[in-house]
Amino acid sequence: MNIRKEESKDYKEVFNLIKNAFENEVYTDHKEQFLVERLRNSEAFVPELSLVAEVDGEIAGYVLLTKIKIINNDLQKTSLALAPIAVLKKYRGKGIGGKLILEAHQRAKELGFGSIILLGHEKYYPKFGYKMTKNYGIKLPFEVPDENCMLIELTENALKDVSGIVEYPKEFYE
Ligand SMILES: CC(C)(COP(=O)(O)OP(=O)(O)OC[C@H]1O[C@@H](n2cnc3c(N)ncnc32)[C@H](O)[C@@H]1OP(=O)(O)O)[C@@H](O)C(=O)NCCC(=O)NCCS
Repeated sequence: MNIRKEESKDYKEVFNLIKNAFENEVYTDHKEQFLVERLRNSEAFVPELSLVAEVDGEIAGYVLLTKIKIINNDLQKTSLALAPIAVLKKYRGKGIGGKLILEAHQRAKELGFGSIILLGHEKYYPKFGYKMTKNYGIKLPFEVPDENCMLIELTENALKDVSGIVEYPKEFYE
């Protein structure tokens, strides 16, 4: 398996992959493929953090990290949102999702980002070091259970003294 930056030639394959991956999921609007299209054209997009996992020339998995802000009155801290992550059904359970997450962490860290925030399954992400945002006094702007709101500090104390409400780019709401 090879993980690399997504290129424009991959867009169609990634669109179909995301559609396939979310098809049978319950907690989704089944429109993540359109979210990715909007985010690629947004100010929040970091091309280096749009990654594909290839197996024998086929794109088996995809992950995207985009810029978000943690807002506390006049204070703003830049962070990243992990959304979405998707692996084709036929490639599940082989560690591809996990490798994409860890590679995304590494590349984000190299680019100088200190943290990543996500909304996700409480049993999956803690394996990769994610903790509840609630423990940091950080809230997501959605009505969802606390255990699904998670973050990771990529560098020690990246979020020390940081608290507030996460502001997602407008493209998340269209
Ligand atoms: C989530 C997803 C990317 C994981 O990809 P993957 O390549 O199968 O993941 P890995 O092989 O690294 O890990 C598989 C492990 O995670 C568990 N797992 C996978 N998805 C899970 C989920 N939604 N909830 C709980 N556990 C999950 C599997 O049971 C398996 O556990 P095990 O290692 O104890 O056997 C993939 O299942 C997927 O595309 N799901 C649909 C899209 C989605 O829900 N994305 C996340 C929301 S943005």
